[in-house]
Amino acid sequence: MAQPIFDRFYYGGDWNPEQWSEDVWLKDIKMLEDAGINEATINVFSWAQLQPSEDEYDFSTLDRIVKLLVDHHFGIVLATSTAAIPAWMARRHPDVMYTDFNGARHKFGDRHNPCPNSPTFRKYAPKLAGKLAERYADTPGLVAWHVSNEYGAYCYCDNCREAWIEWLKAKYGTVEALNKAWYSHFWGHTIYDWDDIVVPNALSDEWTPGCATLSAAAIDYRRFMSRSITRCFTDEKAAIRQFDTKTPITTNLMSVFMDIDYFDLGKELDVISWDSYPRYDFPASAVAMRHDLMRGVGGGKPYMLMEQTPSQQNWQPYNSLKRPGQMRVMSYQAIAHGADTVQFFQLRRSIGGTERFHGAVISHADTENTRVFREVSQLGAELKTYGKEYMGGSVESQAAIMFDWESYWAMYYSSGPSVLLKYVDEVHRYYAALYRRNVQVDMIPSTTPADQLAKYKVVLAPALIMVKPGVAEAVESYVRGGGRFVATTMSGIADENDQVFLGGYPGAFRELVGSWGEEIDALPPERPVSVRLEDGREVSGSIVAELIHPVSSRVLASYASDFYAGVAAATVNEAGEGKAYYVGTDMDEAGMDWLADVLVRDSGLDTVETPHDVEVRVRDYDDGRRLVFVLNNGGDTQTVDLPERLSGTSVFDGKRLAGLFDIEPYGLRVIRVR
Ligand code: GLA
Ligand code: ZN
Repeated sequence: MAQPIFDRFYYGGDWNPEQWSEDVWLKDIKMLEDAGINEATINVFSWAQLQPSEDEYDFSTLDRIVKLLVDHHFGIVLATSTAAIPAWMARRHPDVMYTDFNGARHKFGDRHNPCPNSPTFRKYAPKLAGKLAERYADTPGLVAWHVSNEYGAYCYCDNCREAWIEWLKAKYGTVEALNKAWYSHFWGHTIYDWDDIVVPNALSDEWTPGCATLSAAAIDYRRFMSRSITRCFTDEKAAIRQFDTKTPITTNLMSVFMDIDYFDLGKELDVISWDSYPRYDFPASAVAMRHDLMRGVGGGKPYMLMEQTPSQQNWQPYNSLKRPGQMRVMSYQAIAHGADTVQFFQLRRSIGGTERFHGAVISHADTENTRVFREVSQLGAELKTYGKEYMGGSVESQAAIMFDWESYWAMYYSSGPSVLLKYVDEVHRYYAALYRRNVQVDMIPSTTPADQLAKYKVVLAPALIMVKPGVAEAVESYVRGGGRFVATTMSGIADENDQVFLGGYPGAFRELVGSWGEEIDALPPERPVSVRLEDGREVSGSIVAELIHPVSSRVLASYASDFYAGVAAATVNEAGEGKAYYVGTDMDEAGMDWLADVLVRDSGLDTVETPHDVEVRVRDYDDGRRLVFVLNNGGDTQTVDLPERLSGTSVFDGKRLAGLFDIEPYGLRVIRVR
């Protein structure tokens, strides 16, 4: 079960008062208090001010900001400011700036720009973090440390290359072992000496992003970069811990961001926090999946919604406004999936810089008399009253989806069969089918041991192309013990060196699914395939069509068009007490719904039927309480029919909510079941 992460519900977000004159600060605080805001995330990009030169530190402005917040009893998320390199450092120590994929060493500018293996960065970033901790550790209301910001940039400089070679030596021991793991006799890529090794970028072996001659080498570089970046976090964490042993330390993650293995980095975070910026056309299921992934990265514990925009972004092609009520329901969606805070980027809109058109609680109109301010205030009042009650519950799931960053990378480098085959989309297709039935899902690492898999009625591994040692065995023992497991095209194909298992797809899971795949056709958008389901209906398959031979399995669906009409498209195999499914094509919604219903029927998953756009989630609390969140994520009124087991009294007005009732556009109910 789960404990609340803080002693109160924090509602706030990024506030950058160093960007504007001090006479505005007090005005801000008053407006924020009016809006029910009780937290400010500060100091995210202030390195240039805090350390104006090599041996000079100046905390005077930050002291005044902190004092103001303390005087007003704000919670403070204090960032370490290390995500943007100051000008003097870039000038004096060029090694601190990263070298990009095209081999260009960056100059001063932009942000998210340090080289993670730069001796300069590794000296000065923890030093600053330590100084901040020394000075502010005992600040009343210090909620969390926020290290850096949205870690990400890979570096391809000589320092990184040298560190990579050391990493490879430790991993492989000999050049022969490396050649074998990398399959480097392909295109004559044999390495004779460690010194032959170059970083895989546009100048060498990854001639264009995603196309690497040796995917195993490119994946190793990703592992190395991901760990180098993770070590930047732990460097700063260690520096903070010298002065502050208790305050949780985090960094803001970005859900399905490809470049960092968040299951690795997540282990180092005391609390997970993440930034949610769905595009206007994202389905609610896509946002839901990201929340579940972030909860999974934190081992299922509650997390912080560190950033979301109150209204619009500035960096997407179409920065549409959130519709009236939408920010509130999205905040509740986060809470329903396990968030214990709701925070915005940003509290005041800047008047200059690239983010001046990014939404904020206080807009350029500079008044409380705006739609956004009113909506923020309404939610603030609500969270002040009920927020604490939402905190700490766990989200119990009967289904799990394996999400694996290394498979994500291997899919990225798969070079065929189709450009439309994208890892996150494949995962989401399966997630969405369960979501439409309101099945709660845990996103779990592929290396989850069998005894932990056992608690799930269904485990899915969409496009889990890379099967690490022990994974196939754990999955098999899970199925034999009574589990239901779903593999799809591209699942199970390769080992941890991205080398293909012989004998037919899905390689590592072939015997378990009792089928083998012979060929995978790529279906251009204008050429879908018909799929006949076991109930006689026809649906459509897209992107790929794998031609499956059942061995011990039973056919669930077959192709009904093209030269492979009659060939199996999906099978199920009984193994021990359980079943293993294999699905060879990306079915349309009707096909995925059918598959989800097969899984529900076979496994006894609990479902809740709701209209499209309505989502039902449950949070369970250590003290036996259960809250049900019924969310209308869409712009039309919806009628729900709530089953008895989820009925109870409304948290907001104590009225009984059961059976049929309407929910207004972007409206929601929170129901106390017990
Ligand atoms: C990210 C960053 C913030 C800000 C927002 C804008 O999440 O962490 O500093 O740039 O994007 O959407
Ligand atoms: Zn570097």
